[in-house]
Amino acid sequence: MDNTNDIDNFLLLLKKLKNLNDLETIFTVIDFLYLYDKNKFKFLSKLKLLNNFIIVKNILTTISFYPKENWEDALSQSQIKSKLWLIDELKKLNLKFDLVYNLASWYNILALFLSEYLNVKKVKSFDKDPNVLNVSDRMIHHRLIDNFNYKTTIMDIFDINYSCHNYKTTRCQLDGIIKEFEITNESPDLIINCSCEHLNYEKWLQLIPKDKIVILQNNNAFNFSDHINCVNNLQEFVTKCDLSEIYYQGTLHLQNYDRFMIIGTT
Ligand SMILES: C[S@@+](CC[C@H](N)C(=O)[O-])C[C@H]1O[C@@H](n2cnc3c(N)ncnc32)[C@H](O)[C@@H]1O
Repeated sequence: MDNTNDIDNFLLLLKKLKNLNDLETIFTVIDFLYLYDKNKFKFLSKLKLLNNFIIVKNILTTISFYPKENWEDALSQSQIKSKLWLIDELKKLNLKFDLVYNLASWYNILALFLSEYLNVKKVKSFDKDPNVLNVSDRMIHHRLIDNFNYKTTIMDIFDINYSCHNYKTTRCQLDGIIKEFEITNESPDLIINCSCEHLNYEKWLQLIPKDKIVILQNNNAFNFSDHINCVNNLQEFVTKCDLSEIYYQGTLHLQNYDRFMIIGTT
């Protein structure tokens, strides 16, 4: 949305939407908006895949703060289904973990899902793009106040020490001043990377200590310029990751491509 009038009108609508108090009413309004303009409101209609009030409310609030971000992509049916798939398969495995590292985390929608669908205590998200910091923290705003149990940090995932991580993270205070905080001796017991297509994950996996539980996603959507490391099929992905044990491996057939997921230990 580039036109200023369009954005203003859209923002007004979003402010009204995010103040509604139940999912049913929010979805009814979204249905009307979608009927009114299928192109403009297509991505909002995908929120109907999410049967959780806090998740929908947080996403709407974040969009209203940052309307120019790429919500069409982040809230596409394929992106949402891929993350719901991860939550479903993780739930089935019944693993125990306290601290999750959510890597190349983009707008942090997965952290919001981990919080609300699985009630995970701590999720630390890392992305190298400084532009996503505020969007990402806004997405899990209700958890952020909770002693940094949920927090995004701008960092290249190749610079993380996965055995014992000491690092600084920043947060914008209510008075607008950016404050720096030190975090010491962190060691995640679950590491998630849903952006394998965006990086040299074979090299990155060598940084992970033995016996860590990892969840990895990749896809065969070769036609995007920033997808530099796609795979043709699940078997190719499994071979390239070379994990010592696999708890789950699968393919999700989406509208325009397939997504592959492996859950296992390094
Ligand atoms: C388009 S997004 C996410 C796509 C993914 N399928 C998903 O839904 O989570 C890819 C993200 O990876 C991040 N990224 C790529 N390489 C990275 C790296 N080496 N360290 C940290 N973040 C990285 C980018 O900044 C971007 O936010």
